[in-house]
Amino acid sequence: MGADRNVVARQDEGTVRAAYDVVAPTYADHFRSTEAEAPLDLAMVEHFASLLPDGATVLDAGCGAGRMLPLLAGLGCHVEGVDLSPAMVSRARVDHPDFVTRQGSLTDLPHADETFDGVFSWYSTIHSPDAELPRLAAELRRVARPNGVVLVAFQSGSGVRDVAPAYAAHGLDVVLERYNRTPDQVVDVLAGAGMTEVARMEQKPLSDKERDAQAVVIARVS
Ligand SMILES: C[S@@+](CC[C@H](N)C(=O)[O-])C[C@H]1O[C@@H](n2cnc3c(N)ncnc32)[C@H](O)[C@@H]1O
Repeated sequence: MGADRNVVARQDEGTVRAAYDVVAPTYADHFRSTEAEAPLDLAMVEHFASLLPDGATVLDAGCGAGRMLPLLAGLGCHVEGVDLSPAMVSRARVDHPDFVTRQGSLTDLPHADETFDGVFSWYSTIHSPDAELPRLAAELRRVARPNGVVLVAFQSGSGVRDVAPAYAAHGLDVVLERYNRTPDQVVDVLAGAGMTEVARMEQKPLSDKERDAQAVVIARVS
């Protein structure tokens, strides 16, 4: 199935932040843990963790309401989160008070250079237009240590999806687009920022309810 539109994407961060501030309670109530993740998704998270040193420090970059924090901690990571949306961060602090979470953007992370052994971006680059991706990749690379590992999960394909109707069904009025991209595209952007592909996974839609394929790319800082 094709994307909703093929336009030059221009969504800005203010639009994304505003949308997630509105949908945060609904999103967090719906996605409480990893029920939505398929075994292959979880296998890629485990593979990411297996590439890290013992007791690795990990940034969940775009942590939302924090549902992946306990999973990463359970895999031996010392994990903290950052997210663009203050409402998502507030909810993460309520639902996952054992973890440090802060507000910040993937385009300008509030962390020092080379802070983390691993950087984990689970569907958090999906609202950023293609033109922003090199900047995001450079930030993920900047906060990762030499030889560090970066994971990016996203909907695979091309074009733009309008996410607003899905939230309108819950009575929420937001403007929000999502950009599908291919694993090759993501690998190329990461390579441009100094990271080399370690593994990739692409999974076709698992049911009629899912419109897009899902992909995970893992890369190492070269
Ligand atoms: C689809 S949700 C995924 C959240 C979380 N990773 C999860 O799996 O539940 C996308 C998240 O990315 C965040 N996000 C989008 N663009 C961002 C950016 N430029 N910087 C930081 N966070 C961003 C949103 O605020 C939202 O919480």
